[in-house]
This record gives sequence, C-alpha cells and structure tokens, in this order.
Amino acid sequence: MGKRFYIETVGCQMNELDSELVVAALQEAGYEQVFQRQQADIILFNTCSVRQHAEDKIYSALGRLKHLKEQKPGKVIGVLGCMAQKDQELILKRAPHVDLVVGPGQVARLPELLESLARRTGPIMEVSLDRRGQARQKVQASFLNPDRQDRPIVRPVKHQAFVRVMFGCDKFCTYCIVPKVRGPEQSRSPQEILEEVRQLADQGCVEITLLGQTVNSYRWEEPGCTVRLADLLEKVHEVSGIRRIRFVTNYPRDMSRELLEAVRDLPKVCPYLHVPAQSGSNAVLKRMKRGYTVEQYYEMLASIREIVPHAAVTSDFIVGFCGETEEDFEQTVRLVETARFKNSFIFKYSPRPGTKAYELFPDDVPDEVKRRRNNELLAIQNRISLEENQRFIGQTVEVLVEGPSKLAERQSGKTSSSIQLTGRTVCDRIAVFEGPVDLAGQFVKVTIKEVSPVTLFGELSLVKQDVQADRLGAPISA
Ligand code: 5AD
Ligand code: SF4
Repeated sequence: MGKRFYIETVGCQMNELDSELVVAALQEAGYEQVFQRQQADIILFNTCSVRQHAEDKIYSALGRLKHLKEQKPGKVIGVLGCMAQKDQELILKRAPHVDLVVGPGQVARLPELLESLARRTGPIMEVSLDRRGQARQKVQASFLNPDRQDRPIVRPVKHQAFVRVMFGCDKFCTYCIVPKVRGPEQSRSPQEILEEVRQLADQGCVEITLLGQTVNSYRWEEPGCTVRLADLLEKVHEVSGIRRIRFVTNYPRDMSRELLEAVRDLPKVCPYLHVPAQSGSNAVLKRMKRGYTVEQYYEMLASIREIVPHAAVTSDFIVGFCGETEEDFEQTVRLVETARFKNSFIFKYSPRPGTKAYELFPDDVPDEVKRRRNNELLAIQNRISLEENQRFIGQTVEVLVEGPSKLAERQSGKTSSSIQLTGRTVCDRIAVFEGPVDLAGQFVKVTIKEVSPVTLFGELSLVKQDVQADRLGAPISA
C-alpha cells in the first residue's frame, strides 16, 4: 500500500482539530500528506452529520470515486468522523468501494487500522458504542481520546491552535445528532490541557481557542474542589506567550456569573461569546428541549451586558423547526433585533434520523417557508452586523494577522512584497488590509476605513509586537 494520503475536512472546529491530529499521527507513522486527491494512495474524508446537506455532499464525492477504485483497486478510501459513527454499515452499503469507516471516537487508531487494512481483504469499520442501552462508563471508554500534549506543528496557522477541553454532549437537544455521534460529555483534566497549552506556547502559538460542544459546561472534579471553565481560564491565562484565549461553544444555561467575571477580569480572554439561542419562541425552545425560556436567554444577555458590556455576542438559529409558526418565527426576529448579535449562523432545520425530533415531530414546515425565513432573518442580522461594524469606521483596532486574504491567495502568482492580509480583532471581527507578506502571526494596528456586514477594511497603521492583547477591537456596547 502506498503511503501518500489526502484528507478533506468538513464541519465544525472539532473536526478541524481531529483532522489535524490525524495528519500528525499519520505523518509520524511514515505517511506523507498530499493536497490533491489524484496524487494520493489513501483518500480520507472527515465528515459531519449535523445537517443532511453535508452528508449528501460526502455521498456524492464517494460516488465519484467508484470509478477510480475500479481502475486502481489499491487506493484506500476512508470515511472518518460523525457520519461514520451515525451511518456505519449504511456507508458500505451505499458506497461498497469504501475501505474504512472510522467514528470520531476511533480516529486515534487510524495508523493501526491502515496497517491492518494492508494485511487483509475487505473493509474495516471501527465505531464507538451506541449510547442507548449501554452502561455510561462502557460507552465513554469506547470514545478514545485523540488529543496529546505534544502537538507537532501541522496546523494551517502556526500561531493559532484549538485545544479540546471536553468531548461529547449530554444536552440532547431534540434536533441534534451530536450527543449520539460524539458520545457522552467528558472533560479533560486541567493538567493535560495546561500541558498542551504550554507546549503550544513554546512553539510560538499566541492564540488558543478552547473547544467543547458545550464548553462552559466544563467540569473536572478534584479531591476537595471542582474546576469549572472560569477556573480553567484563569490557569490558561497564566501561561506566558499566550496572548489571546477564546472558548466555543457556550450553552446559554451554563453561562454563569463566575464565567462572565473571568472574561471581564482576565485581559487575555477575548470578550467574544458565542451563545446559540436557536429560537426566540418558548414553544419551539421547549420542543427543541433547550432547557431555557426566551426570558431566561434575555436575562443571560442582560448579565453579559452588565458584566462585560463591550463583549461581542454571536448566536446560531434554526428556522423551520417542527411546528414553527409565523408567530414563533416573529419572536425569533424580535430576539435578533433586540440582542443585536455581532453575527448569527442561521440554518434551515434538517431532520436527522437518530434524534428525538425525528422520532417525535413531523418536519412540517415546507422548504420554501424555511428558505424564506432563513433569508429574512439573515437580512435582518446582516443589517445589524453592518450597523455594528460601522461604529468601527475611523477607529484603530488591534489585529492578529492570520495570513494572505482569499483575494491574495487567488492572485498568488503576483510578485509583490505587499499583499492583502487578513486577521481578526479581539472580538473576532475579520479585518482585511494591505501589508508585508511576513506579518502573519503578529499583532498590528489597523485603522478602519470601510466595512461590510462581515469584514472591516482598513489600513495598517502600526506594527505592534510586544504588547499584551488589548481591547481596542472590542465593539462599543449596544
Ligand atoms: N438542523 C439544522 N441545524 C442544526 N444544528 C444542529 N442540528 C441541526 C439540525 N438538525 C445547528 C445548530 C447548532 C449548529 C452547530 O448547527 O444551530 O448550534
Ligand atoms: Fe447539539 Fe444541543 Fe449538544 Fe449543542 S448543546 S451539541 S445543539 S445537543
């Protein structure tokens, strides 16, 4: 079996992190990463199951590889991640030319699985245990941890890294497949997390994003004390070299005062809070089993505004969930108008086999209604995002440079020492400006000249190397 592999990743940041760890493990086992499918002996897809659309795309990509596999049977095709855990044998049924089906709780074993594949005929399927009807301990143990404290530098942007603080989810929102495919909630120990952060800082990493499906539900029991996310932030804050700390995604009910005070008091912690509301209607929230009312969500927003007034708050919404009426939708509109989120990700409800909503409620909102509500809500959010961004015109913000912008990448043939760069402000706004190619990884000052709903366009005003992350990028409170 040849040793060149290609990996394509879809889905969330958790998947990006998993793929990074797969790349590292395969490289250590002697495999070489290539960036074009045609050059690869092993073609891997790290997949997402949150919406049907993401799965359809993978199935059609797999369909297109059938011919290749017939011509070159030695090629290995692997499906990793959430779809592997959700569909299991169905993948082999729909795409019999697939060789490997590996759930997110088994990707740590990929090098070993590729070795076994070379020694046998027929596909290999490795998935974790189903949560239903099994002892929790047993299920937890079947989700293996791919994390490590010594991360080789294979990430796309060297000075930024994701660090997982917890696996899985126990919230079981009725629409969501995540608790099934990523297994029970399990927090990593603070020692392990800190060691990983220290190693990343030694490698020159300046920005850490702590990841968890419900990151603010983080909980680690120690004799005599419980470590929550606020405590963990305090510990990560002490690691020298780290200048920005983010954490995603938050669960509204676990947005404690202590956590907000930690965001207020720890200067390296970015005043950026992604707290998905999903809907503004109590009837819908109840059917979603989100565990809060819209009044409680408003109260939570009020605490954010009181404790961290300059925080940028972002949300996710699902439109067209089962039974959503025009009146329900209007309440979501009201929430978006009132909260003035920095931005919102808006999705049309996609029924997922294996979830409670799929079993209990008919998917009764027609697709054209979902589409209309999606567009309507997006237009409102875009107007608000634009208005919020307009406040930045004329301001100078601190930006951590990520690298060339998409435009500059498309013009990569151009030889010029100054190109269009992109980076982010402390509150996670994207800034685009002209500057020298080698600024990636540095903090610079950018004066904003123009804005769109998603981008601040500016001019480089100062290259700033040795300052603590400050809060210049923070939005003025709404
Ligand atoms: N249909 C549409 N959107 C969904 N999400 C999760 N499950 C579904 C689904 N079945 C959205 C939620 C979540 C985001 C990551 O994806 O808004 O916050
Ligand atoms: Fe899914 Fe709800 Fe868990 Fe988020 S909190 S991953 S939406 S079940």
